[in-house]
Amino acid sequence: MTLSIRPADPARPDFVGVVAGIDLRHSVAPEWVAAIEAGMDRYAVLVFRDQPIDDEQQLAFSRHFGPLEQATGDIAQGSERRLRSDINDISNLDQRGAVLARDDRRRLFSLGNMLWHSDSSFKATPAKYSLLSARIVPRSGGDTEFADMRAAYDALDEEMRSLVAGLVCEHSQIYSRGILGFTDFTEEERQKWAPVPQRLVRRHPVTGRRSLFLSAHAGAIRGWPVPEARALLRDLTEHATQRVFVHAHSWRQFDLVMWDNRVVMHRGRRYDAKEVRDMHRTTIADVAPTLEQAA
Ligand code: OGA
Ligand code: MN
Repeated sequence: MTLSIRPADPARPDFVGVVAGIDLRHSVAPEWVAAIEAGMDRYAVLVFRDQPIDDEQQLAFSRHFGPLEQATGDIAQGSERRLRSDINDISNLDQRGAVLARDDRRRLFSLGNMLWHSDSSFKATPAKYSLLSARIVPRSGGDTEFADMRAAYDALDEEMRSLVAGLVCEHSQIYSRGILGFTDFTEEERQKWAPVPQRLVRRHPVTGRRSLFLSAHAGAIRGWPVPEARALLRDLTEHATQRVFVHAHSWRQFDLVMWDNRVVMHRGRRYDAKEVRDMHRTTIADVAPTLEQAA
């Protein structure tokens, strides 16, 4: 087999690639890992269809791209967890595999994934790649949308570019859930998820391209009054998520989609809460907090 990567949408040749000619159940040769990394640098999102993998196979593939995060951002911890501690549970299931009740705290927390965000931007060292494997998908709905923060940055005018250059935001899951009116946090969760600083403009270490590092978790800008900060973040998010910058992925069972959280935001879309949607996510940690990376 030979590996090929082609744009999902020929009209957008540098955003979202579809990978063919690879079976993720088996070990992947180093030159293919390099080709996938190069594909990520170009496309920021890669789609692998028809990959019926289990957790071990997903972990083995993911480890090629760097150290795995622990799923400390999930609200279900300890005996409430369904999946192992290094796999984020992006499902609507409890630890016994039953669909969560409509008012279950874990479900209400997970609705935060419907807001545009970058994974783990609330961690001191945020996520580099996320790899999301669809094990069971609902009959309709439940797309995941991706927005290209490189293109969004490029489209800013000079005045906005100089305003945002050098700004540092504070990110927390308390902020993102607060947008939806979810405030049901324990004291331990409030401490664990205290705000962390992140640069608003980042530079890709390989391509050198600048991008906006936005996320629903961003709730403040250092040195700015909070309402003014949130108004700007809202404006920027509105700009950055215009349809010209967005690709919607419609899931099929056994798709694996991999994205670069440094340069894309994503969000989940509605689906029937009575149907099962079972997605497993592995997450690669970035190398350092954004403030320790070159501007
Ligand atoms: C995620 C996420 C959205 C979705 O896996 O990090 O935000 O569509 N998923 O499930
Ligand atoms: Mn996410």
